[in-house]
Amino acid sequence: QKPPVRVAITGAAGQIGYSLIFRVASGEMLGPDQPVILHLIDLPFAMAALNGVVMEIQDCAFPLVQGIVATDNQAVGFKDVNYALLVGAKPRGPGMERGDLLKDNGKIFTETGKYINDNASRDIKVVVVGNPCNTNCLILANQIKDIPKENFTAMTRLDHNRAQHQLADKLGVHSTDIRKIAIFGNHSPTMVPYIDQMTAKNHKATVDQQWVTQTFIPTVQQRGAEIIKARKLSSAASAGNAAMNHITTWVNGTAEGDYTSMAIPSDGSYGVPKGLIFSFPVTVKNGKYSIVQGLPISPFYQGLLDKTIKELVDERSAVDHLLK
Ligand code: NAI
Repeated sequence: QKPPVRVAITGAAGQIGYSLIFRVASGEMLGPDQPVILHLIDLPFAMAALNGVVMEIQDCAFPLVQGIVATDNQAVGFKDVNYALLVGAKPRGPGMERGDLLKDNGKIFTETGKYINDNASRDIKVVVVGNPCNTNCLILANQIKDIPKENFTAMTRLDHNRAQHQLADKLGVHSTDIRKIAIFGNHSPTMVPYIDQMTAKNHKATVDQQWVTQTFIPTVQQRGAEIIKARKLSSAASAGNAAMNHITTWVNGTAEGDYTSMAIPSDGSYGVPKGLIFSFPVTVKNGKYSIVQGLPISPFYQGLLDKTIKELVDERSAVDHLLK
C-alpha cells in the first residue's frame, strides 16, 4: 500500500468543507489506492462544530483515512502537508466594500502563507478557494520563500464546469463531450469563458454569437448569485467538487487533446502582467501545468480580457502594502 499523504482543508467546519471532506476521505480526489491523513483547520469558535465533523468521518469508517488532525493552530494544521485546499475566508458582509474584503482576507492569507512556508512539505500543492481567490493566492504566495511559486494556484474550475454544462445543454450533448474551452482571468463577474476552439464529440462546434454574449457569458458569470437566490445559501457541493477536480487534474493530468482552467502565476502569456494570479487554459502532465499558447484572441475576447486584467491589477494595487 502507498504511504499516506496529508491533505489540509481550511474552513473545514463550513459548508464547502462539509461536502468536500467526505469525498476526499473516500478517495475520490487522489484515487482509491491513496491513503490520506486529513488536516482539518478552522477558527477557534468553530472547533465544536469541527469536532462533530470529525465524529462523522470516524463513523464512516473510511478505509483510506489513516489519521485526522483537527485544529485551530495552523502550525499543527499545515505540518508536513502535501495538498492544501484553502476554503476558509472572511465572507463579504452586508454593505462591505470590496476593498475591505480584500484587506480582511489579505491578513488571513498573509498569515496562512507564513505557516505554510514554515511547516508544509516542500512539494505542497495549494488551491485557494476562499474569495477573492485570485488575489488571496497572490498574497499567500508572496509569503513563500522556499517552495516553488507555481505550487500556488486559485480555483476557476467551478466556472469552467459551469460553462461546460451550459454549452452541453445548448448543443444537446453530455458535458464530457465538450472540450477545448477555458476560463481566462479573475474568479469574479469579469471572468472570460473562452469557447472559440470548442469541440463537441471531437468536432469543432460553434454557437451563435448573440447567445454567447446575451445568455451564455452572463449565465456562467452569475451562476453563483442564481444559486444563492434559489438555495438561500451559496453553492457548496459544486464548489467542493470543483476544488477536488482541480487537484485531481493537477495530479493525474489533462486528457490528450483537451485543456482545463487553473488560476496560476502569470508568465506574461496573452499580455497578462507577470505575477498576477490569472486563470489560463492549461494542460497538465506529470504534475506540472503549462499554459496553452497561441489560441486566437478575437477583438471581442480581447475587450473582455482587458477588463478582467484591469480588475486584477486594481485588486493587486488595493493590497500593495501586503506584497512588500
Ligand atoms: P462558510 O462560511 O460555510 O465556511 C467558511 C469556514 O471558514 C467557516 O467555518 C469559518 O469559520 C472558516 N474560516 C474563516 N476564516 C478562516 C481562517 N482564517 N482559517 C481557517 N478557517 C477559517 O463558507 P463556504 O460556503 O464554505 O465558502 C467558503 C469560501 O469559498 C468563501 O470565501 C466563498 O466565497 C468561497 N467560494 C469560492 C468559490 C470559487 O469558485 N472560487 C465558489 C464558492 C465559494
